[in-house]
Amino acid sequence: MTGASLQPFTLRNETVSIPLLSAPMAGISHSAYRRLLAHFGGYGALYTEMIPTGTIHAENLQRSPLTKRREEEGPVIYQLVVTGKTPVEKAVARIAELSPFALDLNLGCPAPIIARKGGGRALFNDVDRCRRVLESIRSVWSGPLIVKCRLGHERDGWEERFLERLSLFAACDVDALCVHPRFFHEKLKRRARHRLYPWIRQHWDRTLIANGDLTDLSALSLLDPGKCDGLMIGRAAVVKPWIFRVLRGETAIADFLEVWDLFYSYTLDDFPPERAIGRIKEFTAHYAGNFFYGHELFRTVQSAPDLTTLRERAHVFLSSAPQTMRT
Ligand SMILES: Cc1cc2nc3c(=O)[nH]c(=O)nc-3n(C[C@H](O)[C@H](O)[C@H](O)COP(=O)(O)O)c2cc1C
Repeated sequence: MTGASLQPFTLRNETVSIPLLSAPMAGISHSAYRRLLAHFGGYGALYTEMIPTGTIHAENLQRSPLTKRREEEGPVIYQLVVTGKTPVEKAVARIAELSPFALDLNLGCPAPIIARKGGGRALFNDVDRCRRVLESIRSVWSGPLIVKCRLGHERDGWEERFLERLSLFAACDVDALCVHPRFFHEKLKRRARHRLYPWIRQHWDRTLIANGDLTDLSALSLLDPGKCDGLMIGRAAVVKPWIFRVLRGETAIADFLEVWDLFYSYTLDDFPPERAIGRIKEFTAHYAGNFFYGHELFRTVQSAPDLTTLRERAHVFLSSAPQTMRT
């Protein structure tokens, strides 16, 4: 299969013209990062970071890096993670003010801190509460609704429990399902189980999106008939923000220093310096994956005490014609 056969898919009343999405990533997929992806294009839609329902009321929607969006980003899917006691309808109504392209409910986050607040894996585990949350969302949101989940807990009977969730999602009028086929306890370890998609497809006749360890052209085989409708790319797009063009069969020539500088300046446009530094370090930790000696870039940037030092150190490394990894 080649990029030429990438087909659009629909989400209720909306069309995703290219079946390639960027993943929600807390700490990374803010507007500055999406602006960088937009610089290269090639995707159908981008995700925000997960947005906690419990604190959304306190955000300035147009200014907060968590919620702000630029025209050039194109379709943006806002992901909600349930936290605390705020009625979900209230949080959804607030996000709806931003006219999101679609909403996504996070049912896959394995982090204990999110589970303790009732979201992510805790919500996936509690079928009745999950139903109530989905019904609450649907009571105030008639646009495209996606659920992103994992396989659940790796215990006997996980398959039945997973299929029970699929029935629930369909009954609650969810339009699309994104499955990251790992169990909760695995976090990002072991390999994503792509072999499960044909089985999931048999039980889910709406839009199905694959995610997890999709890094190169071989991912396109997951769009074959009987498998998935779309691909969601997380970490590999932080390493190569031009990856969507590569997946479409285009050549994307990137100047590594120029791209890093773009991210640096975009981040400073949106975040105060004391918050920008952490975001830039996080991005650079992934971006270092482009280089054979990327651990040096990682190490030197992580230990930088301030933005000026950080930028100087990144420049020293990136302008030294570092040996790149073969892709
Ligand atoms: C730093 C980081 C933050 C993440 N934050 C979220 C999040 O906010 N919501 C979510 O559903 N998944 C989150 N994930 C999971 C990713 O969306 C994705 O499912 C996972 O990284 C596997 O895809 P990949 O192999 O393409 O990276 C995060 C992953 C990473 C690495």
